[in-house]
Amino acid sequence: MSLRIAAVGDVHLGTDMGGRYRSHLTGIEEKADVLLLAGDLTRHGTLEEGEVVVEEFRDLPIPVIAVLGNHDHHSDKPAEIAAMMREAGIAVLHDDAVVLDVNGERLGVVGGKGFGGGFAGKCASEFGEPEIKAFVNHTKRIADRWRTALKELEADRRVVLSHYSPVNDTLAGEPPEIYPFLGSYLLAEAIDAEGADLILHGHAHMGTEKGVTPAGIRVRNVALPVLGRAYGVYCLNGDGRC
Ligand SMILES: [Fe+2]
Ligand SMILES: [Fe+2]
Repeated sequence: MSLRIAAVGDVHLGTDMGGRYRSHLTGIEEKADVLLLAGDLTRHGTLEEGEVVVEEFRDLPIPVIAVLGNHDHHSDKPAEIAAMMREAGIAVLHDDAVVLDVNGERLGVVGGKGFGGGFAGKCASEFGEPEIKAFVNHTKRIADRWRTALKELEADRRVVLSHYSPVNDTLAGEPPEIYPFLGSYLLAEAIDAEGADLILHGHAHMGTEKGVTPAGIRVRNVALPVLGRAYGVYCLNGDGRC
């Protein structure tokens, strides 16, 4: 049986949205084996918004795995929000991996927030001011951690969950001027080096759902405004169709 991955990002829950997202998750276990959340779960990263996220996604009939996004960092409480989510049984990845047993197969999910920098030929480089070096270094460190996590991953199926995009295909529709703030080719380079079956990301609200890495790995932008529905479902069989 094929593994069915439900995914959505950028739900941007505010304190006025309690219960509203949850109503769209009824019966999700009929459609998917696991739910992946691709960051920007809150609007401003406050603890109050984090509590709404916990209540919307806790105790679902299928496992939930999340990464945080840039909005979830805005109030400098990402660790606290992640701890609240973990306390409620939601796995939160921070440049590491989790392996689940699903339908007798080991599903490995590697991921984290990711970061920007741009794409080959039009990207930031480690040159000049320390601030620019720190910006590029942040992405490089993340890409290195993902590479190591994928190398060490013992799983039958491999999914990478990110907030920022590893490719520019799925940014189509966004202004090209902001591509360097939407993702980085370094993420795709690391994933391509070790291999994965599927990459999911959010962040690019005006982007495009489907893309592919240079090595041919499927990439899906699951930002809520792109999907236009509560979640997408992606299958890990030969052609990816459910
Ligand atoms: Fe967002
Ligand atoms: Fe974002």
